[in-house]
Amino acid sequence: MAGPAAPAPRLNGCALLALLHKFLRLALEPLRFVLARSFPPAALNPLHHLGALTIFFFWIVLVSGIWLFIFFRTSVDGAWESVEYLTHQQWYLGGVMRSLHRYASDAAIITLALHILKEFAHDRYRGARWFNWVTGVPLLWLVFPLGITGYWLVWDQLAHYVAITSAELLDRLPIFTDSMARNFLTVEALSDRFFTLMAFLHLIGLPLFLVFGIWLHVFRLNGPQINPPRVLMAGSLLAMLLASLVYPAVSQGKADPAQVPEALAFDWYYLLVYPLMQAWPAGAVWALLLGISLLLCLAPWLPPGRDRRSAQVDLGNCNGCERCAVDCPFGAITMEPRSDGTAYASEAVVDPTLCLACGICVGACPTATPFRTRTALVPGIDLPDQPLAGLREEIRERAERLAGTQRVLVFGCAGSRGLRRLEDHQTAAVRLECMAQLPPAFVDWVLSRGLADGIVLAGCRAGDCQYRFGMRWTRQRLERERDPRLRKRVPGERIALAWSDRWQAHTDLRRLLADFRRSLGSPAAASPAAGRRRLAQAAAWGAFAAVVAALSVWPPYRLLEPGQAMVSLTFSRAGQRVHECRRLSQEELQRLAPNMRNPIDCPRERLPVWVEFRVDGETLHRRAHPPSGIWKDGESTVYRRFEVPAGSHELFIGMRDSGRAQGFDFELRQQVPLASGQHLVAEFDHVDQRFVFR
Ligand code: HEM
Ligand code: SF4
Ligand code: SF4
Repeated sequence: MAGPAAPAPRLNGCALLALLHKFLRLALEPLRFVLARSFPPAALNPLHHLGALTIFFFWIVLVSGIWLFIFFRTSVDGAWESVEYLTHQQWYLGGVMRSLHRYASDAAIITLALHILKEFAHDRYRGARWFNWVTGVPLLWLVFPLGITGYWLVWDQLAHYVAITSAELLDRLPIFTDSMARNFLTVEALSDRFFTLMAFLHLIGLPLFLVFGIWLHVFRLNGPQINPPRVLMAGSLLAMLLASLVYPAVSQGKADPAQVPEALAFDWYYLLVYPLMQAWPAGAVWALLLGISLLLCLAPWLPPGRDRRSAQVDLGNCNGCERCAVDCPFGAITMEPRSDGTAYASEAVVDPTLCLACGICVGACPTATPFRTRTALVPGIDLPDQPLAGLREEIRERAERLAGTQRVLVFGCAGSRGLRRLEDHQTAAVRLECMAQLPPAFVDWVLSRGLADGIVLAGCRAGDCQYRFGMRWTRQRLERERDPRLRKRVPGERIALAWSDRWQAHTDLRRLLADFRRSLGSPAAASPAAGRRRLAQAAAWGAFAAVVAALSVWPPYRLLEPGQAMVSLTFSRAGQRVHECRRLSQEELQRLAPNMRNPIDCPRERLPVWVEFRVDGETLHRRAHPPSGIWKDGESTVYRRFEVPAGSHELFIGMRDSGRAQGFDFELRQQVPLASGQHLVAEFDHVDQRFVFR
């Protein structure tokens, strides 16, 4: 008889997210692999300094921006002319500064995108890291407007497109009653005040918030890395200079509201979303942007959650030495006045909301020594889910199974892969959460008690520790530069640090093990010859400069098909009141409070304004536009753009604001010649009470 059918495997949300993490890690792998080969030692890999590189690019933007600001004039004509002066007459300095300003802003978007992708792919956004992650999201809402307002200030054709599209996007928000886009449709509507506002936002408002936002983003981390290594600073500055000299940033012809260019050289870093405005309603674009932001904010709490318990202090063993607090990468430990009446001045206190249960503090505690046999191995601080006493037992148990004269104990961390597959009769593997969880005394213990002939520490990949400082602290402790130091009697040649390279983790580690076993010495990392290395780095920076400059203008974005013109229909008009004003009778007035006795009662609500627009008899727009305001007592605003083939056309606009069922209160019918790329604006002249084409 057949047994019950096995349940079909289910791909739930947790598995999907884990798959996504894995997929993204794999997607980043080729880049990491190439950069790791070009930037030895691995700690110099730019992929491990993405946040700091983003900040460095902002520094370049700031310094070059100050130079541009000195010459920039905040007026409709002055803006364009001053930027042209900088670009062409002062090309040797102003032009270079302009290009540096543009390209460093673009480069910051690349490093920022990789920063987000990498933190997400490596699952470094949950637990106590939620704070860094969530405070990162508003930074996006500052960085993009910062770039966009920058493009606006140049006042070239791209700036005009940016101004109109941004205004169309903002028009969708319920805070504006009138259409903002109308301010950019005709020469007459343009105002210097907008330039002053933009200049304020771009030069002062947004940068100030950004500086505060970045501080908020990193201040909770212990020793945040806000500057990349000097060699990376030099490389990125040179790469930006290279892009600036080879392909200087230029404007695209002065903004002319009467023309629509067929195509624009487009900055895809900052304006990626803008083309959506041509295909989607503004509301849908807002929904997309807000939806992504909300999803990002919620991501730290989405499954699969990790519920490892936080580190716990045992006051009976804590002497208040502070080492755990100094070493914790997440600032989860504070030293507080002693609460148990002992003579020590302070005690360690763990904030469970900040603790990621990495165990680095356990490795830092001087009481975490396996040589203790008379008393139980309870250190001052320990991980309840992987206590040190259990770790000692596991090591002993695994080591006892080893045989031969070249027995090696491999310690891996939570990120190590294929650890178990390394095991054979003379190799045992023990997994820790973080390499720095292993107190140096354990290394001494293993070797001095003859539990193994050598120890390999195979942590995360070099320079990219899952818990920020695990590898750095481990190396410093073993090299006796940091407390708790490895005792001098321990022979260094019996220890190998093999920060795994996941691209070929298994084979590399196997090879390393074989070499190590032969020598039982420290394997020197093979680094390519200095000349070749420099060449590889130059090529990497050159490629980076090329990508930055290319996507800054290419591929062009097509605004209008050849042979087409654009007609914008735009005006505001208050519809007539829904009910006529009425004179109140004496009785009605008497019934009102004395201060409310207005003899004329005018209901506020207005009628919608009905508008039709036809080209050669074909109706392109036909709609009632509701009054603005919560009381429906404001003006109705009309703003629509239409592509029309170039040539002579009969244009018709009809509008009724009186509530009549048929016909129009105002109309204009006119034969209009339209040139290819022309932008014609149809408006309502409130002085003459008629429609006009401008
Ligand atoms: C202006 C934009 C940003 C800058 C300049 C920036 C910079 C930094 C810096 C310098 C660090 C500290 C790195 C370290 O010392 O380990 C950091 C950490 C972090 N950032 Fe950003 N960041 C930005 C935006 C974002 C965004 C948008 C997100 C995600 C939505 C994000 C997520 C994180 C996370 C999760 C960490 C903690 C990493 C860890 O603990 O290992 N950042 N960022
Ligand atoms: S386990 Fe220790 S070092 Fe790691 S986050 Fe918690 S308190 Fe800090
Ligand atoms: S390292 Fe150990 S002994 Fe020192 S303060 Fe922390 S818990 Fe106490």
